[in-house]
Amino acid sequence: MDRLLLFPISTRVERDSLTIAGHDLASLSAEHGTPLYIYDRATLDASAQSYTDALTAHYPASAHITYAGKAFLCKAIAQWTQEHDFFIDCTGEGEIKIAVAAGVPREYILVHGVNKSIDDLKAAIEHAGTVVVDNITELERIHLLIINHQPPFPNFWLRLLPGIAVSTHHAHTQTGQHDSKFGMTREEILVAAIFCNENNLPLTGIHFHQGSNFRDPEPLIPAIELALDLAKEIGFKGEWHFCPGGGWGIAYHEDELPNPSIDSYVRGVAEAVIEGCRRRGLELPHLHLEPGRSLVARAGVAIYRVGAVKKRGDKTWLLADGGMADNPRFALYGARYSCLPVSGVGRERSERVSVAGPYCESGDIIIEDLPMPKIQEGDLIAIPVAGAYHLSMSSNYNGARRPAVLMLEAGKAKLIVRRETTDDLLKRDTKI
Ligand SMILES: Cc1ncc(COP(=O)(O)O)c(C=O)c1O
Repeated sequence: MDRLLLFPISTRVERDSLTIAGHDLASLSAEHGTPLYIYDRATLDASAQSYTDALTAHYPASAHITYAGKAFLCKAIAQWTQEHDFFIDCTGEGEIKIAVAAGVPREYILVHGVNKSIDDLKAAIEHAGTVVVDNITELERIHLLIINHQPPFPNFWLRLLPGIAVSTHHAHTQTGQHDSKFGMTREEILVAAIFCNENNLPLTGIHFHQGSNFRDPEPLIPAIELALDLAKEIGFKGEWHFCPGGGWGIAYHEDELPNPSIDSYVRGVAEAVIEGCRRRGLELPHLHLEPGRSLVARAGVAIYRVGAVKKRGDKTWLLADGGMADNPRFALYGARYSCLPVSGVGRERSERVSVAGPYCESGDIIIEDLPMPKIQEGDLIAIPVAGAYHLSMSSNYNGARRPAVLMLEAGKAKLIVRRETTDDLLKRDTKI
């Protein structure tokens, strides 16, 4: 399958060079510098529409998409979620404040977190419509905070640890297995439900999330069954909420194409929920899905300039000007990527290259052993599927300044996040 299919849907090759939404990537890099991240608005909108269409087609009751902000959140992306009527999943005070600054209303903010601090909980109580409670201690803390607080309060959902993981490429992207740090066991959920009942905390839903970047929805089915059993036992009345998390996968490398179908994922979940509720005599819940990666990953492209090329044994290293500081996914869990040169795209892929960054870690790698046309020092390369879990996990390692981010539409290249400067680096600390 062709590597171009990994890139945003508005990507074209013109005069053997890459363009996205009609913008020439070489010119954007000259104007804004590298490393540079771009997001293609058309790809963002198309993936959002796929989810909305699939929910409309397969689920007869009310339903909502909650964008998992951990994939990538800034004010512009938060605004984009509102254009699609999506909720935003915010992990902690920082992400809550970004959503608030973008004008996201309370009922559209949902808060997650495995060990929410008091400040996280205070921000959630002040700004969120829903808090997904991870553990009983958190619930007790919420109760104490709410006693001294005026309504409105958020609604509360309980996060179940189903004890069933989805299949992902690495254990570090699984969250549903029995020994995971996330969520509550079946027994803990029942204790938490009694606590809510006794303390008048509005318990309105149940949630679980089994892992990230899976493409086989099969393990969702027993987890949905387990969660519906609990819903029945808790005895939700009237409108209640059910969220089997996010995590639907996407292709990062041409040998993983075609992309897993959003429609078949949503259909599978919807059918299991409808059938499971029918068997238990439960009213259909308000169904929520919580995707991050499958909404934004393909819309993003990272552009790097290759500063040096080194031959070492059988290996050809392309040394790029970005790496683990803007994309730690290889270092964290061996993520795979592909890439194309920005110019001379159609040339024969005559070399096998590995791409590494400028940082002082041998694990500062982006790509291992990929067929590529010959790349010379000074050339630009474009890494597709860079829209999720790059910038949201970026760092200042080695004094790196986080890259600029552009949103591209036909005739418009808007700088949505400016590049960090050395002044930004110096702002927080002081001399002794
Ligand atoms: C609770 C929760 N919901 C949703 C997601 C989104 O996962 P993805 O971006 O793979 O769709 C995550 C990711 O880890 C998560 O922890």
